[in-house]
Amino acid sequence: MPLVSMRQLLDEAAKGGYGVGAFNVNNMEQIQAIMEAARETKSPVIIQASRGARSYSQDRFLYHLMVAATELYPEIPVAMHQDHGNSVATCKSAIEQGFTSVMMDGSLMEDGKTPSSFEYNVKVTREVVELAHAKGVTVEGEIGTLGGIEDGHGAGGSGLEHLTDPDQAAEFVRQTGLDALAIAIGTSHGAYKFSSKPTGETLKMDRLIEIHKKLPGVHLVMHGSSSVPKDLQDVINQYGGKLKPTWGVPVEEIQLGIKNGVRKVNVDTDNRLAMTGAVRRVLAEQPEKFDPRDYMKPARDAMKKVVAQRMVQFGQAGHAGDYQPLPLSEMAKWYK
Ligand code: 13P
Repeated sequence: MPLVSMRQLLDEAAKGGYGVGAFNVNNMEQIQAIMEAARETKSPVIIQASRGARSYSQDRFLYHLMVAATELYPEIPVAMHQDHGNSVATCKSAIEQGFTSVMMDGSLMEDGKTPSSFEYNVKVTREVVELAHAKGVTVEGEIGTLGGIEDGHGAGGSGLEHLTDPDQAAEFVRQTGLDALAIAIGTSHGAYKFSSKPTGETLKMDRLIEIHKKLPGVHLVMHGSSSVPKDLQDVINQYGGKLKPTWGVPVEEIQLGIKNGVRKVNVDTDNRLAMTGAVRRVLAEQPEKFDPRDYMKPARDAMKKVVAQRMVQFGQAGHAGDYQPLPLSEMAKWYK
């Protein structure tokens, strides 16, 4: 099946009451890891690329790897999503390159660092909605700003500085007509999210529930949702890494989010940790090895394991065959 619209994946997830993991990729092994996990668990999936990933892998390599994924795993619905587009031009180029979904992150200015005004955010998101929906492409927007920095994108901080205001979120959805809304509830990108296990003071699940009550029909997106498991940290440190003690978002909190309107769950860091730990282990235990396959294969296997576990935990497992994906041309008609 061709790459599909993220909107349809999320609508189906809402019907089924589950979440869909959106996993970041930069290369072939990561795409393979996700597709193998999706096949094993029979999961629909969102594969996403940041601006940094697009420039690292180059758009055409990335696109054709994604097409290969759809050919080799025809039973899996896959949406290809631009993560944190910083401008209308970035989203436009993603659509031209074959992405079936884009995020216009107008919560920050084009520099990807400076928090923007509400009016600016509405203007750029609305513009992307118009050009994307005409082609059947899905749009995610963001209101409030996340903490941390990833691939040079992010406001920094703990994520508590610019939490999403529920009334403003409702107004933002009304004025933009977007498909999915990323909210800020204290999560941040990267490995260093919390300095101890998060509490209601640092991870504002009550805020998420409030937003969902105000916008029950809107697909919410939880960014910065890696759980940063201790066992993955330990493997890295055991083999010469230098991670400082840190905590991520517990899976139970994500599951609570899924019960309250979260349909897209962004995970990148956990996969980075899994791959790095596996590479370190091989290089430390077998220093005579120098064939990249000797460490990339265990790295791919380690990522697959994490992704498959999340697919089960988010509830998307078993849902790959539930529906017939619509072509983007049908989605374009539907938006009209
Ligand atoms: P993590 O750093 O928690 O994996 O978050 C990734 C993310 O939100 C990508 O947009």
